[in-house]
Amino acid sequence: MNRRASQAPAAPLLCIDAVGKDYTATVLDGITLALNAGEVLALTGENGAGKSTLSKIVCGLESATRGGMRLAGETYAPASRREAERLGVRMVMQELGLVPTLTVAENLLMGRLPHRAGWLRRDALHTAARAQLAKIGLDSIDPATPVSQLGIGQQQMVEIARNLQDDTRILVLDEPTAMLTPRETSYLFDQIARLTARGVAIVYVSHRLEELRRIADRVAVLRDGRLVDARPMAGMSEDDLVQRMVGRSVSDLEHRPRRAAGPMVMSAQGIGRGTAVQDVSLELRAGEVFGIAGLVGSGRTELVRLLFGADRADRGSVTLHPDPDTAEGAAPRVLQRGFASPMQAIAAGVGLVTEDRKSQGLLLGQSIRINATLSDLSTISRAGWLQRAKENRLVQGFVQTLGIRCRSPEQPVGTLSGGNQQKVVFARWLHREGRVLLLDEPTRGVDVGARAELYGELDRMAASGRALLMVSSDLRELMAMADRIGVMSAGRLVAVFERGQWSEQSLLAAAFSEPGGREAPGHSSSSSPATV
Ligand SMILES: Nc1ncnc2c1ncn2[C@@H]1O[C@H](COP(=O)(O)OP(=O)(O)OP(=O)(O)O)[C@@H](O)[C@H]1O
Ligand SMILES: [Mg+2]
Repeated sequence: MNRRASQAPAAPLLCIDAVGKDYTATVLDGITLALNAGEVLALTGENGAGKSTLSKIVCGLESATRGGMRLAGETYAPASRREAERLGVRMVMQELGLVPTLTVAENLLMGRLPHRAGWLRRDALHTAARAQLAKIGLDSIDPATPVSQLGIGQQQMVEIARNLQDDTRILVLDEPTAMLTPRETSYLFDQIARLTARGVAIVYVSHRLEELRRIADRVAVLRDGRLVDARPMAGMSEDDLVQRMVGRSVSDLEHRPRRAAGPMVMSAQGIGRGTAVQDVSLELRAGEVFGIAGLVGSGRTELVRLLFGADRADRGSVTLHPDPDTAEGAAPRVLQRGFASPMQAIAAGVGLVTEDRKSQGLLLGQSIRINATLSDLSTISRAGWLQRAKENRLVQGFVQTLGIRCRSPEQPVGTLSGGNQQKVVFARWLHREGRVLLLDEPTRGVDVGARAELYGELDRMAASGRALLMVSSDLRELMAMADRIGVMSAGRLVAVFERGQWSEQSLLAAAFSEPGGREAPGHSSSSSPATV
């Protein structure tokens, strides 16, 4: 201790020494890295490079196969997350770690619930929870709400709030902003600044390079389980970062010209459900990408679920317009309150790629092959028999086009890295004939190289005449991909911009606008579900 105090510069807070991890294959090897008090270390690299695995080893969720660590000079080998947390090492997980059936307050204070003579003190619990939420700008959430009722972005904010504890020495954030919008992200960054000023070390895992450049002091790049290098962020361009990650440069955000809009495929008229979605009308045209922007809680996911029949609208209608090539003269099909079920939507040629791959998207225990072909067994079965050879060819094709990093198509999806799981969700809909594809945060957690591949696939789908609707919190992505962008605020579609008419400022201004003012026809909204 005394020796360290007299040293300048100070010894690192955490030393990772030749750490390796083997599952069936080696996924980390020879990682030697130091983390200093008060710094933000960005950790980046392609999907499957080993970022989450390294983070989990640091935070006690996995143990290293080789090598060791020292925390403030002491040997550090946490046997569990709890043990790491006791030593002040905490992690915000990439896959949410909240218990959905418990309330927000219970999740926030798990393990530290205030008791008196054996009784849970609910008032004290809620007061403490509110204080915790306020730190990160979540004043609008009632601590008594079950977590399962929150949107995924709000869940992420609660997960972050849960880890902002006073005794934290190291905080690892594994893609914390993947589902956050600018306002939430800036609350998070304020907290990060506050923590580092106090000497807390932050490890920040993200694929969003502009974010890394904004907050990181140093950046460490992993490729195939090895450390490429760790160096100061200053002077590093986005292109430098991509080069290090992927080994080549990628322009994933080149602007596309506006695509030619074809005939109308599907439209919604005044569709709504409670206060979550209010009187939304929109038109999806063949060959077009319709983007949806908005803040967390603005009703984007809820709208997509209504359009897919995952939730039933309580007012309005959805209209399916016949394909003029194949069904000339046929009448449009009007569905009062939308599709009755996702099955009905799928039968009508409407697909959905979801943001929440854990609960809605994937069978984690099943193989890539099964998950990827699940959506449409009819294209690969004949007279009821699965054509294994055809299926294998198809799956190999996805694995290659999307660059899914795996040992074989038989690997269980649950053992893939987060970004690679997302690619499997996407793969499902690639081979399906369909007229409309709804995409809710399709590139969440996907690395820059693979993202460019996904964009290419979306381009091809649009060119083949499909109508695409894409929800994204990444405005740069929407501005690059969409032909029109609709903006939601407090359950309403408050504005629709044509390509060429929008700017980042105008989109943000609409997202923060109060519906019920100039834009909303008729009644004004009562409560705002957004975390604004
Ligand atoms: N339980 C497991 N069993 C087998 N392999 C695993 C397991 N967990 C992770 N892996 C493998 O370890 C490798 C690294 O995964 P990891 O989740 O650390 O990647 P990542 O860098 O976080 O990627 P992403 O950007 O997609 O989140 C991947 O190839 C993954 O398939
Ligand atoms: Mg990861």
